[in-house]
Amino acid sequence: MLTFLFLMTKVALISGVSSGLGLETAILLAKRGFRVVGTMRDPSRGSELGKAATAAGVGIDVVAMDLTDAATITHAVAEVTAKYGSIDALVNNAGYQVRGFFEDTSDAEIRQQFETNVFGTMAVTRAVLPQMRAQRSGRIVFVTSIAGRIGSLGLGPYSATKFALEGLGETLALEMAPFGIRVSMVEPGIVNTSFWSASLHVAAGAKSAASPYRAYFEEAERMAEWAVKSSPIRPADIAEAVFQAVSSKRPHRRYLVGSRPKALMLVRRLMPQEMFERMYEKAVVGRITKAKS
Ligand SMILES: NC(=O)c1ccc[n+]([C@@H]2O[C@H](COP(=O)([O-])OP(=O)(O)OC[C@H]3O[C@@H](n4cnc5c(N)ncnc54)[C@H](OP(=O)(O)O)[C@@H]3O)[C@@H](O)[C@H]2O)c1
Repeated sequence: MLTFLFLMTKVALISGVSSGLGLETAILLAKRGFRVVGTMRDPSRGSELGKAATAAGVGIDVVAMDLTDAATITHAVAEVTAKYGSIDALVNNAGYQVRGFFEDTSDAEIRQQFETNVFGTMAVTRAVLPQMRAQRSGRIVFVTSIAGRIGSLGLGPYSATKFALEGLGETLALEMAPFGIRVSMVEPGIVNTSFWSASLHVAAGAKSAASPYRAYFEEAERMAEWAVKSSPIRPADIAEAVFQAVSSKRPHRRYLVGSRPKALMLVRRLMPQEMFERMYEKAVVGRITKAKS
């Protein structure tokens, strides 16, 4: 009976469970019956997850994986497949943001951003697909962002990575449908996690006193800080959306999370496109130019 239950338990592989949304999602999925395997670059730094798992009374396996190191991706996916024989859900969560106006962001900083958020995520997905195709079932979730739906200040390269994942996700959804594999995008608005502190990377050029964008960027950062502090979205909201994506019979293509992003997208949908673009530009750019003058 125990062996039967083990075989029936669905296996979820989640990237980036050391903190924030990945950690919360790992705990929720484990509490709801998934066998969760989470990835971290350095599993020895997994104490936050360990404490949360103990408090929730669940067990979570951790494997080492760095999205910028192809060998660790191959190794991690092979380890999970060998141990459990299936991967029923892949949650592509790991990622970070580089902040700065585009011209202040170096080519190297942009490439690193794409290596992690896009090419690393593509490599993990590619590594998992043969197993899911063989099973003729599976769920793939890309944790993108509202920044993957609409541009915002000082976030060009990050936004480009999330738009890229949205495009990949839409295409993969079509290509995988004949194999019974469903693809969803979970698009969080701002959530106060270490994404905005310890993991945040500000482009060197954006910090330079010589930057022609300095005053604008500083005001954009003040706006972002306010948005982070006042955001009503909690990591649990994103975890719930991921759970819906991996467990609903008919998962949605997109799960936009948060009242602010939902309101913005609703206004965009209801307004004529040109009128919306003008209004959005006026609202965003007006703030930083007014502050500078
Ligand atoms: N927080 C927000 O406002 C927000 C909004 C929209 C979308 N998102 C997206 O949500 C996801 C999770 O963000 P979060 O808020 O939970 O941030 P977080 O607390 O900083 O967690 C990010 C996770 O990504 C992992 N990671 C970073 N670079 C990696 C790499 N090269 N290889 C493997 N793992 C790597 C980190 O692992 P290590 O422990 O190894 O560093 C960490 O576990 C990200 O994709 C982010 O873009 C966040």
